[in-house]
Amino acid sequence: MKSTSYRSHTCGELRKEDAGKIVTLSAWVQRSRDLGHMIFLDLRDRYGITQVNVPSQNSALYEIARKAGREFVMRVTGKVVERESKNLNIPTGEIEIAPDSIEILNMSEVPPFKIENETDGLEEVRLKYRYLDIRRPAMADALLLRSKVARATREYLDDLDFCEVETPVLIKSTPEGARDFLVPSRLQKGNFYALPQSPQILKQLLMVGGMDRYYQIVKCFRDEDFRGDRQPEFTQIDCEMAFVSQEDIFKVFGGLVQHVFKKVMGISIPELKKIPYKDCIRLYGSDKPDLRFGAEIHELNSFFTGTEFKVFSDVISNSGLIAGINATGCATYSRKQLDELTEFVKAPHRGAGGVIWIKFDADGTVKSSVDKFYNEEKLREVGVEFDAKPGDLILILSGATGKTRKVLGDLRLEIANRQGWKKKEDWSIFWVTDFPLFETDEETGERIFVHHPFVMPDPAQLHLLDTEPDAVHAHCYDMVMNGNEILSGSVRIHRPDIQEKIFNLLGMSKEEQQDKFGFLLEAFKYGAPPHAGCAFGFDRWVMLLHGDDTIREVIAFPKNNSGRDLMLDAPAGVPVSALKDLGIEIKS
Ligand code: AMO
Repeated sequence: MKSTSYRSHTCGELRKEDAGKIVTLSAWVQRSRDLGHMIFLDLRDRYGITQVNVPSQNSALYEIARKAGREFVMRVTGKVVERESKNLNIPTGEIEIAPDSIEILNMSEVPPFKIENETDGLEEVRLKYRYLDIRRPAMADALLLRSKVARATREYLDDLDFCEVETPVLIKSTPEGARDFLVPSRLQKGNFYALPQSPQILKQLLMVGGMDRYYQIVKCFRDEDFRGDRQPEFTQIDCEMAFVSQEDIFKVFGGLVQHVFKKVMGISIPELKKIPYKDCIRLYGSDKPDLRFGAEIHELNSFFTGTEFKVFSDVISNSGLIAGINATGCATYSRKQLDELTEFVKAPHRGAGGVIWIKFDADGTVKSSVDKFYNEEKLREVGVEFDAKPGDLILILSGATGKTRKVLGDLRLEIANRQGWKKKEDWSIFWVTDFPLFETDEETGERIFVHHPFVMPDPAQLHLLDTEPDAVHAHCYDMVMNGNEILSGSVRIHRPDIQEKIFNLLGMSKEEQQDKFGFLLEAFKYGAPPHAGCAFGFDRWVMLLHGDDTIREVIAFPKNNSGRDLMLDAPAGVPVSALKDLGIEIKS
């Protein structure tokens, strides 16, 4: 039953066909317009806006309506009437309410920003008064969409016999590679719980426990640096299955994505492609490329062997890379725009030396920043490699291979942003597969795991663990959606002998293994089934479905960029006595 004692209908549902009905609405005043002989009250709830027309002849109601300021909470009972001048921009724009009674249920101070989609509120103010921000239709929509995605997810997984299990929040450190949030124990002073970075180990233990299809829409906590797509507490759709291979996971969770898109957005997504990690890096300079547009990286070393251009010849003799992309339709870029691109690649965190460009002008002429070294014939030869058409701009970088690919990947995105190639209504969703098992930490030079230490090496390469561990691929996968990593997962190691070998390769001592993961190693002695799983970044997925640029826009009460909850004013100090109870002493 949708109606309650306060309202018979919502502000989003009355239409022309309802004319003549007596209804009661309870909602907030979006705005009030006093025309002298009548007052229009726009009442708003999360379903829409309905106009109430209060004529001055009814002086009692008129007086109440005059007092109703923005965000006052009102109850109005009256007749639905077809409007004379209709507003076809809103679904309820053909009717209005002729009131018999108007009641102020509660008053409101003037809100600190406009409660409309196009608000004048800066984000900090919106976060401080988040409960007002949530009254804006765009925010309410985001939360409703989130709820729909969760519902469609549960529906799909429940149908496949998945069981939703809650795992604890006060646990021990988990191995996702970020910093833990710690909670001091009062009863065991000096000891700490860690909040889960993910339920990774617990879901593996559930597999040992025979719960062969598990999921949970679950909060995870990571004390890491902020970005638009990261929050210190965020939500995963966390899943694990026993007796499955990598291919089974692709089928089930590719299917989940297709189901949610169809159910929530009415969009049919074709079966997800798989792209090996090394192709992503080689062709797009990123492990999460946005494939809504092309601009693949082309490698050009073979074009320039024996060149007299020192920049290129040095790169070739240092086994570096010369490579470029075709910025289609960008030959009209001005000197200033090309300078901006040069600044972009030279930014300290990218560190490229500069950009070499070749313009294939619409009139058929060819110009380049290296005209001194290469004649038109050579430049046209390079153009053929990129299938360059009149109007295209080729951008070339050179240097150490990894860095050159990465900066070209960034440049590809920059051009896409400038050219509007990333259309919010287009979808590029695929699996990235065949990740290496290990990588080298750039700072320490140590071997580290790419995903986490429980990832199964490709069974066909197990013999390489002894001889060439860095060449071993993992049965590990990501899902990329419009250039965002929205899922990560792997087949897990279920055999203690392989697990031990991996820990040894990571340089973990026996004591460290026991201390960190003793309970898991112990559990694996008792018949762990082959198992695999994954976790979706739920906030990121909803952000993309809602067309937002940060996950803050789809989280009811997010933290700001410095980790503060501006509404609750957290984190906050606590009384010294509370710290004492926990055995914590702060020395000033
Ligand atoms: P991973 O650490 O890759 O894998 O996380 C899975 C997905 O969660 C999202 N994500 C985040 N979203 C918002 N804020 C963050 N700080 C944040 N960190 C991660 C990403 C990511 O793809 N236990 C493994 C999964 C598994 O192997 O089953 C895990 O947590 O979208």
